[in-house]
Parts: sequence; C-alpha cells; structure tokens
Amino acid sequence: MIAPISVSFQVNGERIDALVPPRLNLADFLREHLQLTGTHVGCEHGVCGACTIRVNGEIVRSCLMLAVQAQAASIETIEGLSDRGEVADLQTAFRERNALQCGYCTPGMLMTAQDLLRQSPAPDREAIREHLSGNYCRCTGYQAIVDAVQATARARAGRSS
Ligand code: FES
Ligand code: FES
Repeated sequence: MIAPISVSFQVNGERIDALVPPRLNLADFLREHLQLTGTHVGCEHGVCGACTIRVNGEIVRSCLMLAVQAQAASIETIEGLSDRGEVADLQTAFRERNALQCGYCTPGMLMTAQDLLRQSPAPDREAIREHLSGNYCRCTGYQAIVDAVQATARARAGRSS
C-alpha cells in the first residue's frame, strides 16, 4: 500500500490539514473527509460538470484533480458560496423558474453560472449556453436554466446601475 501524503489547503476559508491517499481525487476528499456533499459526482471522468468547484478562483472539475494536487490552494465549494450569499440570487432565480428538478446538476450548474457572471455581467443566451455546455442536466432541457441565469444577470445589472 502506498503511504498517505500530507496536504494543507483552504476550503471555504478554513485551513485543512490532512493525510490523504495519493490517488484520492478532490471530489471524493471533499465529500468523504469534509462531508461537503454539495459537490456531486456523476461521471467521474470530467464530462458532466456535477463536481465543479473553484480552485484559486478558477472553476475545475474536482473528479479530475487529486487531493494532493490541491496543496496550498484555496478551494471553494457550493457550500462556501451559498453560506456567504454569493449565489443567493442565482439560487432564487433557479427556484422561481423551475431550473432544477432532481437537483443533481444544480451545484455544479450554479458554480459555472456564477463563474460566467463574474467574467461577463451581461451574457446573451448563446454565451450562457456556451459557458454551461460542460454541465449536463438530464431533467430540465436547459431552457429554464438559461432563463434563470439571464434573469440574474439582468437583476444584477439593475442593482449596479
Ligand atoms: Fe466530475 Fe462528472 S463527476 S465531471
Ligand atoms: Fe436533474 Fe439537472 S435537475 S440533472
């Protein structure tokens, strides 16, 4: 058996020190060691986007990253964004427009939508679809998700003008 490796990083602003198996992926570490189960695991090979998190400000698929590769990184999960209200308006828009059904894709979808709105405050529908194209939803048909993201962008623009 390969010996565990010592890692240290921030998760949602809290310092985490742990001994992890070298092959443990970051999604499983977050879910199983920190009980941050908002990071979902669908395909486990980088296709579905359910496991999307932020690492050093960039969205990544946490099933494709080993926990040991996150050494010294700043990690944010949907719990962190949700607890500090960063995506409260997006969450409300998703709920109001029925942009979720089973909800399995929703944490990753919110992480990716928020990433778009940070980069591009007024995306058109095509840009929203393009940015969300790596996040799969088997329930909604995407229309309501695009509606919710667009409504949030417009509401934020209204608040900042
Ligand atoms: Fe990571 Fe699907 S579980 S992309
Ligand atoms: Fe079920 Fe998107 S709401 S997968």
